[in-house]
Amino acid sequence: MNRIYVVLIALSLMGCGGSETAPNDTVELSNSEHLVHSFAIPAEAKVTHLNLQAEVDFEARQITATASYRIDVREGAERIILDIDGLTINAIRVDGTVSKQWWIGEEVAFLGQPLEIAINDTVQEVSIDYVTSPDARALQWLTPQQTAGKEQPFLFTQSQAILARTWIPCQDSPGIRYTYEATVKVPAGLMAVMSASNPVAVDSSGVYRFEMKQRIPSYLMALAVGELNFKSVGDRTGVYAEPSILEAAAFEFEDMQKMLEAAEKIYGAYAWERYDVIVLPPSFPFGGMENPRLTFATPTILAGDKSLTALVAHELAHSWSGNLVTNRTWNDFWLNEGFTVYFERRIMEAVYGKEYADMLSVLGMQDLERELENLADVPEDTRLKLELDGRDPDDGMSDIAYEKGYFLLRTVEENVGRDRFDAFLKQHFTGHAFSTITTEEFLANLKEELLNGDQAQYDALLIDQWVYEAGIPNNMVQVESALFAQVDQQIEGWLAGGKAVEIDTAGWTTHQWLHFLRHQPATQSLDRIKELDRAFDFTDSGNSEIAAEWFVLAIATDYHAADEAIDQFLTEVGRRKFLVPIYKALVEQDPTLERAKMIYLTARPNYHSVSTSTLDALLKL
Ligand code: BES
Ligand code: ZN
Repeated sequence: MNRIYVVLIALSLMGCGGSETAPNDTVELSNSEHLVHSFAIPAEAKVTHLNLQAEVDFEARQITATASYRIDVREGAERIILDIDGLTINAIRVDGTVSKQWWIGEEVAFLGQPLEIAINDTVQEVSIDYVTSPDARALQWLTPQQTAGKEQPFLFTQSQAILARTWIPCQDSPGIRYTYEATVKVPAGLMAVMSASNPVAVDSSGVYRFEMKQRIPSYLMALAVGELNFKSVGDRTGVYAEPSILEAAAFEFEDMQKMLEAAEKIYGAYAWERYDVIVLPPSFPFGGMENPRLTFATPTILAGDKSLTALVAHELAHSWSGNLVTNRTWNDFWLNEGFTVYFERRIMEAVYGKEYADMLSVLGMQDLERELENLADVPEDTRLKLELDGRDPDDGMSDIAYEKGYFLLRTVEENVGRDRFDAFLKQHFTGHAFSTITTEEFLANLKEELLNGDQAQYDALLIDQWVYEAGIPNNMVQVESALFAQVDQQIEGWLAGGKAVEIDTAGWTTHQWLHFLRHQPATQSLDRIKELDRAFDFTDSGNSEIAAEWFVLAIATDYHAADEAIDQFLTEVGRRKFLVPIYKALVEQDPTLERAKMIYLTARPNYHSVSTSTLDALLKL
């Protein structure tokens, strides 16, 4: 890592409050690292604490704020650089005095712009007055119609991977951590919550104070504002949601405390004090987001039977893998997600048993196989270690990081034994707490600490091949599920011409149904698809995972009785993982894109930018 970079920052003046000439154009830096997706140069100056004073304006769809940073400046340094994207900077103060010595550089695709502020090495604080743009990509502003309660507007943020800079000027690289405090003013009657200490009741003043005492990277900055209530489900756990879904959410997540305790038993004490979940409106583009102390979650996991709560285990697991020990750059994304999937399945095994976790692993293997097919034309994107220079980090965020990452760790576990592997991982989490790690550092530790420096054993595990080469090495463990074997038998009978009503589905859980649906060939006749729907009413399933799987099959088989349900699902739900396969199926079925576009144009205003940027490309808009 001790490379020498010559960092060339060509700063063109953008008519801001700065002076007429930009300072030194070329700076030579030793020991500075290549951050891949940030303009910051932490070797010169880095932020250590943020005080954010913000006001949320639903009418203008803007946040007006002052971000005051305590900074740590290296001797002789003359500037601090922050990332911004679409922010209007109104004024900057350096140690309390208004400064004109700042410049905004040229915009770079995906990255936004560098904001360079002149300082000297005695400076302790820079303060930035700014306003967000109404189309800031991290923010989704919802009308009352788009919420459960239909009476109040809603706002939520999504900062990962590099969208924090669209709502806060920040040094937006996962290796730069800081503590924060915030004061947020919202319209009276609404509640604001953040990735920090949170209120449990509405404050009539509309002013909320937050504190995050543990250092976090900017991609974990988060804010949600809406008509929210809180309900406790354990001493350290609780749920935030709109009033009409609060009870359902509290029921669904009843086992959260058990999950938290199971997780602590495996990899050590929970470092963030409380663990709460907020259930957002259905346009939330992800299943979940591991904002510290407060996971953001989609309401599509409220199945009514707790069957989709592996997602909570996943986001909780990030409290160790990701939030405590963080990928150094987005090229190391698999360290966040692969470890988290591994830990998620360990938590689920501890709470619900091995047979349950086995189903999750087999479904994961199916996802991995599908993703390898999707990426057949870009095999380099199936390597664990990514090279995202010049690319949107979102491009690297495929199931490879999750499932190939999982299967690497699982393969290592089975080779060295669980006890040894757990001891190693526990040490990994304590040894690198509140810090970052690169893929190379992790592999070196694995060799030294787990394998006692035994190069031959390291080579035999094919680890470098897993990490640096495309595809799946031949030592991947095979996973099986006894509960799926029962389903396989029924599938066989059905595909051999049996009747739908004779399929023995007694006691099937959501995951068994998913396995069943994933093995329904799209070459079946329309009559057979009708027969399945008549027997099991998939079209009206209240389970989002089952419905989404069924809709893809329905589209591929021209089963138009599902059309209305599909339209409604696509209009209401904004979770990208569901949208992409359904729209893809529509595109394949009708390459003129007519049907897909018709639905999309109505539904698009309901989607977050994360989803529209993927779908605009898919639908060639
Ligand atoms: N951190 C991710 C979501 C994410 C990844 C946001 C990359 C932005 C960029 C989160 O933990 C996640 O993995 N969510 C999954 C959950 C699933 C794997 C259980 C999701 O949203 O589907
Ligand atoms: Zn994750």
